[in-house]
Amino acid sequence: MQLQITNDYRGLSRAAARIMAQRILTKPNLVLGLATGKTPIGMYEELVALYRQGLVDFSSLVTFNVDEFFAIPVDHPLSYHHYMEEHLFQHVNINSRNTHFPSTTVSDANAVCREYERRIQAHGGIDLQILGIGHNGHIGFNEPGSDWGTTTRLVTLTEETRARLANRDVSLTEVPRQAITLGIKTIMHAKEILLLASGREKAMIVRQALQGPVSTDIPASILQLHPRLTVVLDRDAAKELNDLDDLRRLE
Ligand code: GLP
Repeated sequence: MQLQITNDYRGLSRAAARIMAQRILTKPNLVLGLATGKTPIGMYEELVALYRQGLVDFSSLVTFNVDEFFAIPVDHPLSYHHYMEEHLFQHVNINSRNTHFPSTTVSDANAVCREYERRIQAHGGIDLQILGIGHNGHIGFNEPGSDWGTTTRLVTLTEETRARLANRDVSLTEVPRQAITLGIKTIMHAKEILLLASGREKAMIVRQALQGPVSTDIPASILQLHPRLTVVLDRDAAKELNDLDDLRRLE
């Protein structure tokens, strides 16, 4: 595990964007697994800034989003498709044919999930998977209890997760109950993983994920076993970690 602790959220965003930019420079047709949520917003802003300086070219990049709500239109305020357009895609030279989301408006969710997996494999698998972490340790929408062997599938969100997703613009009743997410196995098959966490409210779950037992109770804890994991935390999210030297010795 490579661990980088930055002073603040801005530093985290810059560090993460630089890692992504380096990988894109090394492999312009990189297959990128993308995450949403509050955490990566700054990273996407930094990436757009790098693009505007002519430092990153997105034209050959292929993306697969890690999750999407089930059966909501793209213009729904919680749509991750909409989020990606707003925070990254509309600002850079990405080819929309190369961006993938689990299509959530079709009724046969199983067929959608199989097709998503097939497309990922057809592109040779995910090179770099970006991840945030939920308050209960979820990655993508793999909630606690998800099997390690899961692939892309339809999941039911916990009420805790739904409550956290409700915000000033979206009432709890409007938060979908189901989503499609890459499975844990699919995520673990990514060649490299970049995990980001920011803020004091993530400090305890970060500690459980990185220093606790590997357990399906904390889905993110499986990442301890990934051969190429980079973790970028800001100081607040790293507050509860013990024995940082021991963690770093794993590098
Ligand atoms: C959401 C998403 C995850 C995300 C996580 C953390 O529910 N499904 O992909 O990583 O929760 O979100 P945030 O960065 O807003 O804390």
